[in-house]
Amino acid sequence: MWAAHMEACEIDGLVVAIDIEDHTEMASQRSLWDRRVRFLHGSTVDPAIVARVTDLVRDRRTMVILDSDHHADHVRAELAAYASLVTPGCYLIVQDMLTEVLLPDHGPGPITAVEEFLTGDDRFVVDRDRECLILTMCPSGWLRRL
Ligand SMILES: C[S@@+](CC[C@H](N)C(=O)[O-])C[C@H]1O[C@@H](n2cnc3c(N)ncnc32)[C@H](O)[C@@H]1O
Repeated sequence: MWAAHMEACEIDGLVVAIDIEDHTEMASQRSLWDRRVRFLHGSTVDPAIVARVTDLVRDRRTMVILDSDHHADHVRAELAAYASLVTPGCYLIVQDMLTEVLLPDHGPGPITAVEEFLTGDDRFVVDRDRECLILTMCPSGWLRRL
């Protein structure tokens, strides 16, 4: 989807996607895939994956979307690994913010991790203007880098 948007908007962009599961068989047959997508098979918090992403986005205007394991410990580790890759003025979006509210048995989730992160990091602010359509999967999850 992001690759198609970039193509349509004639943005010279690249989507770096990471997942521990590989469901790319169909998508990777599209010509867009080779031009626009780099799929990294592994955990978002694996240091080798983080290093590869860091390499791929070097000198590029970069935004980050976190949408993998929504447990607070994992989101915390992702924030630590990827926040510095976000270009000032761009967003770090944390998806499914309400996981710990909607699924009480889940335990601490994105809200917990983001609140802690923002307490110790003054590079980002929550941009609630991005919630102007009211319905969102990421309330208080649009973090804009100053
Ligand atoms: C909510 S889905 C989102 C998938 C994708 N972001 C999308 O929008 O289609 C969560 C995905 O995170 C993956 N996942 C879970 N733990 C992960 C981890 N530690 N590292 C990378 N991916 C993980 C799962 O395999 C699953 O595909």
